[in-house]
Amino acid sequence: MKDYMTAAIELLQWYDTNYRSMPWRVSSSQKPNPYFVWMSEVMLQQTTVATAGPYFKRFIARWPTVADMARAELGEVLLGWAGLGYYARARNLHKCARVIVDKYGGQFPDHEAELLKLPGIGRYTAAAISAIAFGRPAAVMDTNVERVMARLHSVLDPLPACKPILYSHVSDMTPTFRPGDFAQAVMDLGATVCTVRKPKCGICPWMKRCQGKNMADSIPLKGSKPKRQTRRGIAFWITNPTGAVLLRRRPEKGLLGGMMEVPSTNWVEGALPDRKTAAMAAPLQMAAWDEISGTVRHTFSHFHLELNVVTASVDRVHTVPQDCMWCQPREFEKQALPTVMRKVARLAITNL
Ligand code: ADE
Repeated sequence: MKDYMTAAIELLQWYDTNYRSMPWRVSSSQKPNPYFVWMSEVMLQQTTVATAGPYFKRFIARWPTVADMARAELGEVLLGWAGLGYYARARNLHKCARVIVDKYGGQFPDHEAELLKLPGIGRYTAAAISAIAFGRPAAVMDTNVERVMARLHSVLDPLPACKPILYSHVSDMTPTFRPGDFAQAVMDLGATVCTVRKPKCGICPWMKRCQGKNMADSIPLKGSKPKRQTRRGIAFWITNPTGAVLLRRRPEKGLLGGMMEVPSTNWVEGALPDRKTAAMAAPLQMAAWDEISGTVRHTFSHFHLELNVVTASVDRVHTVPQDCMWCQPREFEKQALPTVMRKVARLAITNL
């Protein structure tokens, strides 16, 4: 299975009629816009094409060039990102735009090694930008590509240990002609034909050369993953007489950095703190808290979270700690509230 030039041609022919239409894709006769490629690839990490599409359109309408993004306020970018998750990506997107403008005169570098020096650009994104935006033969590997390579070459070692082998396969197969289309074609093949479950081997352009087609259901093998632990906390839904709710800005560094939140106790594994200890963690000290029935559940990349919500009302519009503000629920959409906090708000609003 060494005729990689023919393999690439077979796949590119398939791609020419079966490519998925995406708002950031251009036809082969057009020059890709590196800013659009970068933005879409950052959004597509951990997010589906269907989810990323509307965000991408909003972002490029609001910030049409990397210089516009560099001039944006971080808070505005975080607000635009709310709901996509992995908020460090949005902070890095903004930081990276500034570096591109300040250090590279507004032009994206075209080589992987130079791209890798930029904030938020890892091996995958560097290769994707280099191949898709600049036509360089960089090997692009995401989870779809891993699966296609594992099956095509019948790699029977489990993931993630076999990643270097898979990478060397995709690297060997990446052609010098249309490398960006090749990368996107392998990703599309993985997303639509060589799927996790029930792969459609009968319509695969690589069916004849695939060494894993009879065992596709069991390749790639997966090593055991550490189990996600559950952390728990208590969120404080504090209202004032105007109906506004107390929100707090999270510290810049760390999980959901710089985003807004309904204040809560620390999120820790094990049982919830007792009521008295919990109450001391509230941003305003209240005489009594009422429990709101129900639990908010949310899963982050490395842990599950369960939040119970308690509520109290202040009798006047208190001044609040520096990192806090009062906000009417109807104005929440103007705040960079991550999905987990939108869930907290939904629970509180529907139960009060
Ligand atoms: N997943 C991430 N980036 C992609 C792209 N450019 N084409 C297809 N799938 C992708």
